[in-house]
Amino acid sequence: MEKKWWQRSVVYQIYPRSFQDSNGDGIGDLPGITKRLPYIAELGTDVIWLSPIYASPNDDNGYDISNYQAIMKEFGTMEDFDALLKKAHELGLKIMMDLVVNHTSDEHDWFKESRKSRDNPYRDYYIWRDPKEGMKGGEPGAEPNNWGSCFGGSAWKYDETTGQYFLHLFSKKQPDLNWDNPKVRDEVFSMMTWWLDKGVDGFRMDVISLISKPEGLPDGTPSGTGYASWEGCATGPHLHEYLQEMNSRVLSKYDVITVGECPGVSMEQARQYANLEGTELNMLFQFDHMVTDYAEGTGRYGLTTLDLPKLKAAMNKWETGLEGYAWNSLYWDNHDQPRCVSRFGNDSSEYRELSAKMLGTCLHLMKGTPYVYQGEEIGMTNCPWESLDEINDIESSNNVRQNIEKGLIRQEDAIEIMRRQSRDNARTPMQWDDTENAGFTTGKPWLRINPDYVTVNAKDAANRDTSVYAYYRELIKLRKSSDLIVYGEFEMLYPDSSEIFAYTRTLGDEKLFVACNFTDHDAEVQAPDGFEGTERVIGNYEDAPKGSVLRPYEAIAVKIC
Ligand code: NOJ
Repeated sequence: MEKKWWQRSVVYQIYPRSFQDSNGDGIGDLPGITKRLPYIAELGTDVIWLSPIYASPNDDNGYDISNYQAIMKEFGTMEDFDALLKKAHELGLKIMMDLVVNHTSDEHDWFKESRKSRDNPYRDYYIWRDPKEGMKGGEPGAEPNNWGSCFGGSAWKYDETTGQYFLHLFSKKQPDLNWDNPKVRDEVFSMMTWWLDKGVDGFRMDVISLISKPEGLPDGTPSGTGYASWEGCATGPHLHEYLQEMNSRVLSKYDVITVGECPGVSMEQARQYANLEGTELNMLFQFDHMVTDYAEGTGRYGLTTLDLPKLKAAMNKWETGLEGYAWNSLYWDNHDQPRCVSRFGNDSSEYRELSAKMLGTCLHLMKGTPYVYQGEEIGMTNCPWESLDEINDIESSNNVRQNIEKGLIRQEDAIEIMRRQSRDNARTPMQWDDTENAGFTTGKPWLRINPDYVTVNAKDAANRDTSVYAYYRELIKLRKSSDLIVYGEFEMLYPDSSEIFAYTRTLGDEKLFVACNFTDHDAEVQAPDGFEGTERVIGNYEDAPKGSVLRPYEAIAVKIC
């Protein structure tokens, strides 16, 4: 396969609302991001994925877009965006936009028109259906099918004006677009072209696996909540056709980076999405490793536990399953997931930095393009929420409430579940320094600041050689300089160990052995033959391990060449 720049790149994700406020309104904004670009360039990452910055009523914090070609008021203006893009390019940073086109906001002009009448020219931009036969619209059970919204409840909302329901796989304010309508595709493709002509460098495509709905919108198998999961909508019958159309009409005309968020994707489908001929997308985000700690019966919003062999099996599946077919992406967290150091590492003061470095080592030395979520590079942790009222996140609030109502979880466990799983753990403001509000804002922050900012902050991390930030910088530099790390084949070792995550990478005569201890005690690991006496390439303890014992949360990589 021809080598591509985005295979060697490391992507840094910014959640703009929580990155840096510049005008004291308590909400992050574009000038704030521009000011912090040197910090990102210094880390060595080369692409920034910007979570949505478009006009939005913020029912789902920007993932509900009311105008794709305007900037959200709280974030600034189009001039601010142009300045950001210019500065980023000067620093050698590319900008990847979030493309949210499975749905719009219900405040988008298309939807405002669509809901006016059954014969409005925009009616077919969305998915409208009659109530179930013989039933009255709005009555319980009259929804056109049994699909549930990812944010809880039914995926259908009845609209009095025209006596029909519209589909929303996410919130009621996020109606799904009808991709089977060629006019919708024309609109989306011309909007993408507009951004690319402006100079942006690619797109992260929000829930792109859901855009083609199954023929006839059939009922699915209901889960404990009484609704069928969105999974029935994953990779529908025309998905690849639409992505190929997008590719030939738009993407193929530019040298861009694209990654599709693909919940519910199978290996076979993924090989097609991210095929090496480049007829669709460059890579995708799968979710297998994100569900390995889910609780039986309640899924994400129950009391979760880490199961290392399961986590490794999920990572291994994608490393080996895509080899030779498609390019992989690597991530531990993002704006939808808890903080990785709290989830897969150990956020106690003793082990926070060690385990954050261990997780970084484990991920960045695998095969695929790594993604760093803002704050991960300084080891930011989950937030010790004290009350459910502090939670802003629509997904965790609705699902926890629903699970309590259905008797699936106990009210008294709700706050602990939020502390472990709410998306807000990732959305607390970036911790820049130890001054009031962590240097994020001079106003009142839109979401609580994690109280550990006094010790966990970027100022300290950027100035200290032993910090997580310094280690990530070293890791990123190492990865970029090594064909073995970018292109070597992956092989998982000791899959059943519940203490050690170990693997090798091989390219020609070169071989790398990586071993990570996921526990707070010593654990033994045997290097494969040939590695005796080889030098450590990187490690998160000052000195190399003695013999075959790794210390708590120790990570090492050694190389044969
Ligand atoms: C996935 C996004 O990452 C998430 O934040 C959002 O709520 C849903 N898609 C709906 O757009």
